[in-house]
Amino acid sequence: MGVMNTKVRKAVFPAAGLGTRFLPATKAQPKEMLTLVDKPLIQYGVEEAIHSGMTNIIIVTGRGKTAIEDHFDVSFELEHLLETRGKRDLLASVRAISDMIDVSYVRQKEALGLGHAVLRAKELVGPEPFAVVLSDDVIDAEIPCLQQLLDIHNFYGASVLALMEVNGPEISNYGVVDADPVSHNGLSGKLFRIHNLVEKPKASEAPSNLAIIGRYLLTPEIFRSIESIEPGSGGEIQLTDALKHLLRSRPIYGLKFEGRRYDAGDKLGFLKATVEFALKRHDLGGPFREYLKTLNL
Ligand code: UTP
Repeated sequence: MGVMNTKVRKAVFPAAGLGTRFLPATKAQPKEMLTLVDKPLIQYGVEEAIHSGMTNIIIVTGRGKTAIEDHFDVSFELEHLLETRGKRDLLASVRAISDMIDVSYVRQKEALGLGHAVLRAKELVGPEPFAVVLSDDVIDAEIPCLQQLLDIHNFYGASVLALMEVNGPEISNYGVVDADPVSHNGLSGKLFRIHNLVEKPKASEAPSNLAIIGRYLLTPEIFRSIESIEPGSGGEIQLTDALKHLLRSRPIYGLKFEGRRYDAGDKLGFLKATVEFALKRHDLGGPFREYLKTLNL
């Protein structure tokens, strides 16, 4: 134990799910391309990875792959148009997307589960620790959630999952952990050593109220675990089941991160995120707030 200097460079973005909760918007485009104010969900996740020091973005795509590729690619026509019209700010924001990172793509032909999607990135990740970001979980945090996980990973050299308290029947929508608190750097009740994980348990059988949300810092042994497991809940190869397998040979930590998470893959969660992100914007917050006040709710 002790502070380690393994740099985490790579972040995997599974974006090949069917997005059934958001039909018909997700019929022909991935839900990761749904727009929160003026940026697609996946860009919020990519920016979080960049702000946490990661430089290699690996996107696992299914249907609607071209929309994602085009978004992170250089758009000569658009840049030329903005340049000739003297729209410097817009030009900078468009360029910033394609400049900031190295993006690779790998295809998941069939949506066989999150674990299966992560396994598709095995060759591109190689033998190093990496992050997994589910970009329909949008997180508003002072310190990026991935950076918070990274700080724990750098200390323990182990996999770390982002946890959130979920009370009531909604716990059944998540992977849930059985875990004991670990005191770490004056953080008490924030960091946990995980003993077991269950994907989408019945509320009465949930081992705790600590749910896994869409940010993971994983060591590369996870790939072997994914390869070893059978399909689980919903007939899918579940990442949670692979983590349970990994637990047999490696410790896994969970962190109740600081920040607010929105489930933007769900219609109500998406609306909440839209309102709150718009209110926070310097250019839109004022007039949007004034407008909301006129609604007499
Ligand atoms: P979800 O559990 O939200 O599933 O996936 P989903 O199919 O995308 O959406 P709903 O529940 O039907 O509305 C979590 C993440 O894992 C990715 C999704 O794209 C999302 O980022 N995923 C899921 C894959 O890439 N492949 C899969 O086979 C399953």
